[in-house]
Amino acid sequence: MTRLSILLLTFCIAVARSKPSERHEVRKFQEDFLFGTATASYQVEGAWNIDGYSAQWYEPESEEHEQAANDANDFMWAQYVHPIFSETGGYPQAMKERIASKSAQQGYPRSRLIDFTPDEMEFVKGSADAFGLNHYLTLMVYRNESIDTMYDSPSFHDDAGVALYTLPELQIGESQILQATPWGFYKLLTAIR
Ligand SMILES: *[C@@H]1O[C@H](CO)[C@@H](O)[C@H](O)[C@H]1NC(C)=O
Repeated sequence: MTRLSILLLTFCIAVARSKPSERHEVRKFQEDFLFGTATASYQVEGAWNIDGYSAQWYEPESEEHEQAANDANDFMWAQYVHPIFSETGGYPQAMKERIASKSAQQGYPRSRLIDFTPDEMEFVKGSADAFGLNHYLTLMVYRNESIDTMYDSPSFHDDAGVALYTLPELQIGESQILQATPWGFYKLLTAIR
């Protein structure tokens, strides 16, 4: 179990898409645009707790938290996957609705999420041939009144509106992020497929 889990922690998967992407016109950055990134050990990412740089699995604490877990999965990774690999393109619908409703509550004249134009949606859809996945662990998700004061507002975390934690009994090392949760990895891969 332990060896399998460690393998899963550093597992990187590239799934070749069956359908080659269509050719798109080449768009260029402006002449003086400086593009910066960093890589290490053949991976490009942020950190396990900086969302959107790798895909964790977000599991509802109980049935009543299923929507919260869906929102967590949408905000943390599906928002990057959906525009490229989904049938419909664009951002996940539930995420769009959540940010629009938060924005309205906060008195903004429109959603703070700038949506794709129909042209952009078509341009991005199917534009990648491979899917690279960086995965560490499964996190438990809940949402109750305590969320209202948990995060600064407006913010990414306040928009997502989910509280996350790891189960101590699944920890396999000194660090909280070392979790033996292959079942969560399975659910993540199933959701992506
Ligand atoms: C919210 O849920 C968490 C996790 O189940 C629990 O520990 C906490 O007491 C709850 N807070 C409120 C205000 O219901």
